[in-house]
Amino acid sequence: MIVALKIEKVREIVKKAKKKGKLIGFIPTMGALHEGHLSLVRRARKECDFVVVSIFVNPTQFGAGEDLHTYPRDFKKDKNLLKKEGVNLVFYPKVSTMYPKGFSTYVEEVSLSKYLCGKFRPGHFRGVCTVVAKLFNVVNPDIAYFGQKDFQQAQIIKRMVRDLNFPIKIRVLPIIREKDGLAMSSRNSYLSPYQRKVAPYLYKSLILAKELILKKRYSPSKIRKEVKKVIKENIPYAKIDYVEIVSPTTLRRIKKIDKGEILVAVAVYLGKARLIDNILVRVR
Ligand code: PAJ
Repeated sequence: MIVALKIEKVREIVKKAKKKGKLIGFIPTMGALHEGHLSLVRRARKECDFVVVSIFVNPTQFGAGEDLHTYPRDFKKDKNLLKKEGVNLVFYPKVSTMYPKGFSTYVEEVSLSKYLCGKFRPGHFRGVCTVVAKLFNVVNPDIAYFGQKDFQQAQIIKRMVRDLNFPIKIRVLPIIREKDGLAMSSRNSYLSPYQRKVAPYLYKSLILAKELILKKRYSPSKIRKEVKKVIKENIPYAKIDYVEIVSPTTLRRIKKIDKGEILVAVAVYLGKARLIDNILVRVR
């Protein structure tokens, strides 16, 4: 496994692999890797001949007062995990490599980014789109892998790829959870033992939402109320950013439960940790 810090190095190595006819799979990450990230790596290994992972805590997607400086970082551990998974190339750039002095060009998706997390984290998806577009241009992959954990992010990236004609296939893979249902996240490490114990109620509230949706007897606003109730009653001091019931394609609120796919998405602060989770429900 090669670790490259420089853009030119990545270009050179990927070019060689492509010349040999290899299919390039790419997983962008911010490191502090867990089984969620590794599930993407494993799928890429199965489908591709050459797997590239980037590890870069991207400053432009963090807002003022967010956790950029405390975001967990452990490159040695990440490197060992990726080596075991048979990754071919790790791109581990410095901030100054990705954002040299005078950097002034950004990529912004302006429709899907208005909803859900976009409302609470202004500029976040602009930072995500910008860095992912840059990483796509550096790595030049055939297939890129994202997690449903960040459902909105994956939808926005798909839109960007379509709108800007990136010749890249986007795969979105299921959420990997702890045994008790908590969605795996690098940010779970911020939780105190007590917070960690009650955090699975977030997923439990989504399961309740799914049950209520499938009963087809309740309005989205009634279901949102019930979900909030479960969160408030079981996660003391939780600060709810949002509980939304939306169309998975437009990310806009739905007014009533109809046939088709419905996304329930939540974002909650548990102490310092901002946790997000979601569930897709198919109504027949
Ligand atoms: P990061 O949070 O490190 O996540 C990297 C990828 O892993 C994302 O596609 C995310 O959805 C996926 N992932 C995280 N937790 C998961 C879980 N429990 N199950 C399945 N997949 C999971 O998302 C980012 O980094 C950044 O925004 C990035 C795209 C790298 C741009 O900076």
